[in-house]
Amino acid sequence: MKVLAFNGSPRRGGNTEVLLSAVIEGMEAAGSEVELVRLADLTISPCLNCGGCDKTGICVVKDDMIPLYEKMDSVQRIVFASPIYFYGVTAQAKAFIDRTQAAWSRKYILKKKGEWSERPDKIGFFVSVAATKGEKVFDGAVLTVRYFYDAVGFSYGGALLFKEIDGRGEMARNVEKIQEAKAFGRRIVS
Ligand SMILES: Cc1cc2nc3c(=O)[nH]c(=O)nc-3n(C[C@H](O)[C@H](O)[C@H](O)COP(=O)(O)O)c2cc1C
Repeated sequence: MKVLAFNGSPRRGGNTEVLLSAVIEGMEAAGSEVELVRLADLTISPCLNCGGCDKTGICVVKDDMIPLYEKMDSVQRIVFASPIYFYGVTAQAKAFIDRTQAAWSRKYILKKKGEWSERPDKIGFFVSVAATKGEKVFDGAVLTVRYFYDAVGFSYGGALLFKEIDGRGEMARNVEKIQEAKAFGRRIVS
């Protein structure tokens, strides 16, 4: 099974990276082919709401986002990872998500059925960490990610969310959670 894994954290060796790596290890152990995309390494401009994609279904901004539309079309699973920043996803993750408005336009405005219809075999997941233990700390990000999956035609399969993970290295030190992440990876591709 082909999988795209997006890391929305800008922190190298950070908690999201460690968590996502464990999920990827689980998916690869189950025989999946995983491509990791580090959003902070790419140039992805924010959406301009220019209305271009309403007419064509294609984004007018030609940057590193362009190949990602096709990549998303060619995989059966997406794992989207971001730490919580101000009760949402990071700016890098949000810029990427906003640019999937082009896919939303194809689906809801251009209604190119067949090519852009729902594909129940395509499932997306969310992986996140947050410093605090607030009851609603993941709520905003989960809503954003669920709506992103709706736009790109994936059904939402669920999330792996860890609270009270903050300093660099905290995730890596948590052996139980790392095992949980590997098991999550194996489960979502089987
Ligand atoms: C700009 C910024 C905003 C943050 N906002 C929140 C927040 O709203 N709630 C929370 O629990 N943690 C918040 N955090 C903490 C991060 O979610 C936490 O440090 C996380 O482990 C970072 O993951 P990373 O190492 O992958 O970057 C914030 C951190 C930064 C840098």
